[in-house]
Amino acid sequence: METKTATKKTPAKKPTSAKTNVKSNAKTSTKAATKTPAKKNAAKELKDLFEDSLKDIYWAEKALLKALPTMMKNATHEKLKTAIENHITETEGHVERLEECFKALGKKAQAKKCDAMQGLLDEGKSIIEETEPGAVRDAGIIAAAQKVEHYEIATYGTLAAFAKVLEEKDCLQHLLSTLEEEKKCDELLTKVADTNLNSKAL
Ligand SMILES: [Fe+2]
Ligand SMILES: [Fe+2]
Repeated sequence: METKTATKKTPAKKPTSAKTNVKSNAKTSTKAATKTPAKKNAAKELKDLFEDSLKDIYWAEKALLKALPTMMKNATHEKLKTAIENHITETEGHVERLEECFKALGKKAQAKKCDAMQGLLDEGKSIIEETEPGAVRDAGIIAAAQKVEHYEIATYGTLAAFAKVLEEKDCLQHLLSTLEEEKKCDELLTKVADTNLNSKAL
């Protein structure tokens, strides 16, 4: 089972001074902005963009599947642990549904690195390292997990809209089923945070 491969608890980092690297004089000049030229293999039609986006989220779901066991291992609250464990099983289903989508399109399932998910998972790893195990780390894990869920909700919402316009009915059904599970997971995380964690983390 996937959860057995989870890494051991991550030790908390020593507190360091706040790093602020914000350039106070960074002004955005709209005059300097230029139109970005398209790459050679750029999507020409909505169908191409749809397929590219499927490859992106396919990579993202698989990366998430590798990261979730570490999040679960580092959580201490039982409801949070259970929520993550259940979402590991759901995420396996999300990967399978995407494979069904590729099949419905007559394409081979292909993953393309999703920089957004990579960033979210890197941030999740940092939050774990920067918090002591217990209620505070749990609150950090929920925050990181909800950012991931919101990203997935946005992505599946867009993909479902594309599938509708493209009249890819089988894909649409799969995408909507996953979208529903992502929303439920997000709601559950909010509930766990509201009722059990945020007060303890203070
Ligand atoms: Fe997912
Ligand atoms: Fe998810």
